[in-house]
Amino acid sequence: MKLIAAKDYDQMSQIAARYFAAQVLLKPTSVFGFATGSTPIGLYKELIRKNAEGKITFKYAHTVNLDEYYGMPRDHEQSYYSFMHANLFDHIDIDPANTRLPNGMAEDADAECRAYDEHIASLGGVDMQLLGIGHDGHIGFNEPSDHFSLGTNCVTLTEMTIEANKRFFASANDVPRKALTMGMREIMQAKKIVMVVNGKDKAQILYDSFCGPITPAVPASILQLHPDVTLVADEAALSVMKEHCKCCKCCK
Ligand code: F6R
Repeated sequence: MKLIAAKDYDQMSQIAARYFAAQVLLKPTSVFGFATGSTPIGLYKELIRKNAEGKITFKYAHTVNLDEYYGMPRDHEQSYYSFMHANLFDHIDIDPANTRLPNGMAEDADAECRAYDEHIASLGGVDMQLLGIGHDGHIGFNEPSDHFSLGTNCVTLTEMTIEANKRFFASANDVPRKALTMGMREIMQAKKIVMVVNGKDKAQILYDSFCGPITPAVPASILQLHPDVTLVADEAALSVMKEHCKCCKCCK
């Protein structure tokens, strides 16, 4: 894992955006794996700015997203479909036909998951995958478990994730209980992974993920086995790693 320490959220967003900008410059037909949540918003703003300034184009790029709430229509303001359009797709020159998220309204969730994996495979896999991390170590919606999931699957959200996501809804009761998420196989098969993390509240889980044992109880810990992970994190998020990591010199 390559670690880049940023002083704050804005610097984290600027640095991480450079990776995505470089990727699309070097390979205009890149397949990007994108994430939602509050962490990538600054990075998306940077990509929008670079695109508007004519420095990069997404005309030939494809995107797939990590996840979508299950049972939520696309036009719901909290759907990840709406999020991606509001925070990125509607403001860059990407062809909307080249963007895809799991269909949260699919009647047959399993068939949708299989179709999603086939779509990713038909694109040749993901060139660069963006990840955030949940407080319980989830990536996508792959929650702590006794095994690592393989393909895209339908999951039940944990209470911790419902608690964390209720800020986007009127109450915790309104947070959907299920989601479709890319599995660990597609995430781990991405050629490059860039994870963005900020804030002290993520410091312990970041330490557990990158300095602790590899276990499905901490889903992000599997990233220790990926050959090309770049972690861009702010100082607050790195505070526990910096103090306690004994496994390597990467975070010192
Ligand atoms: C969302 C996703 C999630 C988030 C995680 C952190 O597509 O994949 O794993 O990355 O829940 O969310 P924020 O950034 O809101 O703290």
